[in-house]
Amino acid sequence: MTLPARIHLTEVGPRDGLQNEPENISASTKIDFINRLSESGLSEIEATACVSPKWVPQLADAVEVLKGIRRREGVVYSALVPNLEGWQRASDAGVDKISVFTAASETFSQKNTNGSIDETINRFVPVVSSAHDAGCPVRAYVSCITVCPYEGRTQPSQVASVVRSLLDIGIDEIDLGDTVGAATPADMDSILSEVGQLLPVQSLVMHLHDTRGMAAASCLRAMQLGVHRFDASCGGLGGCPYAPGASGNMATGDLLYLCEGLGIETGVDRSIIVDAGRIIESAIGRPLSGRLYRTESSL
Ligand code: HMG
Ligand code: MG
Repeated sequence: MTLPARIHLTEVGPRDGLQNEPENISASTKIDFINRLSESGLSEIEATACVSPKWVPQLADAVEVLKGIRRREGVVYSALVPNLEGWQRASDAGVDKISVFTAASETFSQKNTNGSIDETINRFVPVVSSAHDAGCPVRAYVSCITVCPYEGRTQPSQVASVVRSLLDIGIDEIDLGDTVGAATPADMDSILSEVGQLLPVQSLVMHLHDTRGMAAASCLRAMQLGVHRFDASCGGLGGCPYAPGASGNMATGDLLYLCEGLGIETGVDRSIIVDAGRIIESAIGRPLSGRLYRTESSL
């Protein structure tokens, strides 16, 4: 079994997690949460989303959060951005990296961003150019890589076609999103063999929601196939407001535990991730679902 010696994690709980919380969480709690995560050894944190507050009111305080966090040296703080207005807000707040987002499904793209796949990619063109002028790298998410909540099964060739369009406009990093958490290890084989014809698998990021409890198995398969960049969410926090029923990302603690067992380095201290989970769990007022978190937070 070939596995990477080390993986790179992006913590997405403060964005992917908190965008889906019905409770009103104060900016100062979000800042405390991110500051604690920053002490864990993580090298990248998606801190918030500079999207329309009418669409995602939970993250209307994005600029306040970005300006309020204590920037730890060596940590990249990124934000989700859908358009030029979002880039302007993120850049004014001093973001290190941005993430644009589209989908492999037309209906999901419309529901999530009020635009077709082509329209979203056209919106990204001036964003990529301004971000690059400012020395800011751009990640692009492709949602619904296995299943769309509105259209059903996605073909890997459709995922590859969207990835090709994103590479054509100069995106620096492609992140493949299993938005509804339907992927199994077999999907990693079929998707990576298609997308791997366009760029090295080692440069891809996998963003696997854990709705059906398959995310760890799928991460392991993706690692065997050469992937070593993953997103994860503290305590399994999260979902997507436009993917009803989907639960949070692969829980950070669970992925760390898997890696520790396999001797794969992450550079992240799992006890600090558990600690950060406590901050957010008391703010949302319900237990976090991550298995490692549930086991270790009460110890
Ligand atoms: P729209 O309504 O078509 O936008 O939304 P618009 O350009 O017509 O603007 C309407 C209003 O929004 C205007 O304000 C704009 O100023 C404002 P008004 O004149 O009415 O007062 N506005 C903004 N305000 C602040 N920041 C902005 C911004 N843009 C416009 N950036 C838009 C189009 C794309 C903006 C909207 O659909 C949107 O914000 N969508 C975001 C939805 C979202 O965040 N979804 C969750 C994240 S994606 C996800 O979770 C999946 C992922 O995790 C991967 C995976 O799991 O697969 C990434
Ligand atoms: Mg997501």
